[in-house]
Amino acid sequence: MNTAVPVITIDGPSGSGKGTLARAVADALGWHLLDSGALYRIIGAMCTRRGVSFADEWQVVELAESLDIRFDEDKVSVDGQDLSDEIRTEDAGLNASKVAQMPGVRAAVFELQRRFRKPPGLVADGRDMGTVVFTDAALKIFLDASTEERAQRRYKQLKNKGLSVSLPGLLAQIEERDARDRGRAIAPLKPADDAQVVDSTSMSIEAVVELVLQQARKRAL
Ligand code: DC
Repeated sequence: MNTAVPVITIDGPSGSGKGTLARAVADALGWHLLDSGALYRIIGAMCTRRGVSFADEWQVVELAESLDIRFDEDKVSVDGQDLSDEIRTEDAGLNASKVAQMPGVRAAVFELQRRFRKPPGLVADGRDMGTVVFTDAALKIFLDASTEERAQRRYKQLKNKGLSVSLPGLLAQIEERDARDRGRAIAPLKPADDAQVVDSTSMSIEAVVELVLQQARKRAL
């Protein structure tokens, strides 16, 4: 791994907008992008496909270590199969949060993530990018928003895709996932000590992108 390559980390709970922010910042700087949540989503989806029970940690870890995962722009394929849409459902998010509690899964994903650090720079989004994976990042952002606002945003997104969803159901799922991600023993979701916490509840995504780019310019990134 090349530690001289600069990294910006963007961590935060589900629905905070960190994926959109990370992509916009990576595009503006011409840097690489790591969507670390996708890796946990893939492992969860492959367990479902292959009939591996989440109760069998040993088998989940074995599967996680064996996968050949490839990213190409918005597309992701695993062992030659396109999983781009399958990993974006609410269920895939919940399953990802379950496998992400397992130390062996996190160890397998740790090495994979660090390989994304390539010139000219990397924007990495997730839950533990600033606290565990890229502790020496030049800029660490922790993006938050109220639970209600995050549920609303997700609701609008899914409605726009033509899917029928219930707002109370989404709120309950977000609360369940948050509790698991924040409460787990290993790499829990929390801001790094040196992270800038941004509450986006009443901010537009454009305003958040501009704020982060300003911080990047301040650090000559
Ligand atoms: O960011 P996301 O919603 O795609 O992430 C899905 C799940 O994966 C999330 O609920 C927790 C887990 N995750 C994690 O534990 N660590 C990360 N760095 C990214 C995601």
